[in-house]
Amino acid sequence: METEITLIVDGQQHDLSVDTRVTLLDALRDRLGITSPKKGCDHGQCGSCTVLQNGRRVTTCLAFAVASDGSTIITSEGLRDDADPHSLHRAFLDHDGFQCGYCTPGQICSAAGLLAEAEAGWPSAVTPPDTTAPTLDAEEIRERISGNLCRCGAYQGIVAAVESVAKARALDRTRKRRDATP
Ligand code: FES
Ligand code: FES
Repeated sequence: METEITLIVDGQQHDLSVDTRVTLLDALRDRLGITSPKKGCDHGQCGSCTVLQNGRRVTTCLAFAVASDGSTIITSEGLRDDADPHSLHRAFLDHDGFQCGYCTPGQICSAAGLLAEAEAGWPSAVTPPDTTAPTLDAEEIRERISGNLCRCGAYQGIVAAVESVAKARALDRTRKRRDATP
């Protein structure tokens, strides 16, 4: 059965008709030609298809396109902050966070998601009890990005890249708080 849906991907609206069995990943890649999310396992196990959907990271191979109707999706390609490219893109380059790069778009989206989750005070399995502002050290980052696999084993660089961005953002927040104090 075909259904009309709308997806807003990287700031651009797409109206399309999809079979109700089509996954969000296949709709993005095969129907819209947006190939930044990668198909690795197609079973929700590798994280290479990760995007941010309405601000939350999701594995698109496990989501039906029809269930995503009207949602806002940001892929690694569309990730921006003040800088261009996004600070995570720059950090992955600076810290050798990839080799073949196949897992990288998913890693980048997942990293953006975990930064936002930690900044919102969300704990992970390794966050000490009663912590309201988790510090993104290497252990926290490894836990929070553990759903993203890298067949090349670029994990050291990936963790270093995410940690560098987390530290820079924490410093920036401290500076802003200090500047706002009368
Ligand atoms: S392709 Fe989606 S988790 Fe592996
Ligand atoms: S850089 Fe090759 S799979 Fe991660």
